[in-house]
Amino acid sequence: MNRKYRKTIIAGNWKMNKTLTETKAFADEIKPQLGKHKWCEVVLCVPFVNIPAAVRMFKDTRVAIGAENVHFEDHGAFTGEVTAEMLKEVGVKYVIIGHSERREYYGETDFTVNKKIKAALAAGLHPIVCVGESLEQRELGVTAELINYQVKCALSGLDASQMRKVVIAYEPLWAIGTGKTATAEQANEVCEIIRGIIRHQFGARVARAVTIQYGGSMNAKNAAELLAQPDVDGGLIGGAALKVPDFLQIIAAANQE
Ligand code: 13P
Repeated sequence: MNRKYRKTIIAGNWKMNKTLTETKAFADEIKPQLGKHKWCEVVLCVPFVNIPAAVRMFKDTRVAIGAENVHFEDHGAFTGEVTAEMLKEVGVKYVIIGHSERREYYGETDFTVNKKIKAALAAGLHPIVCVGESLEQRELGVTAELINYQVKCALSGLDASQMRKVVIAYEPLWAIGTGKTATAEQANEVCEIIRGIIRHQFGARVARAVTIQYGGSMNAKNAAELLAQPDVDGGLIGGAALKVPDFLQIIAAANQE
């Protein structure tokens, strides 16, 4: 973290978990325990159908609500899809774009990621853009090249003021849902590479201000060590964001004096 130059963001990605009733139970349990978390922004990205209710449940807190996907067009014949404007109007602040599960199962590509980022920005949303290598790619030694390619494609055509609104999440595929976390050094190394790419494209001041999260089996135990790294500005958390005590501990780790 580097709180002097950029926001620390702890974001839960609930994926396809929690009904409306379960969402309410989570909100009722966490709200009295939230405290001020003055050093970080807290976000919960929840399934589309529960967004309006989640916005209402957390409206008197500093927890922002996010979506897990968005379409890149602003209207039309795209059965089952949702536009950025629709998300904005119901109170969404962040949207996850290019999660590896969407790349793997739903044909998301670096080019659709780029279009979705532009659509999200045009509607006034903050994209959380996911990049990351597979185990094979890491073992082949092409992590830096792959990250470079994904980040460049994702950010192509953005200007500096748009870039300042984008969050990047480094999520190594081999660490997602596996209980196998990247070491703090591995996480920082790639977050630093990402910041270098942004510096090259948008300049040092923008690069210094961009939040770069780590995601992949971040939990109550390892969060403090990961967040202590200079280029790791938060977390995108799956499993551990479904349990109130675990999520609270991660928020606490981001708020240590
Ligand atoms: P886990 O924290 O469950 O590994 O999931 C990480 C993730 O994919 C967040 O987007």
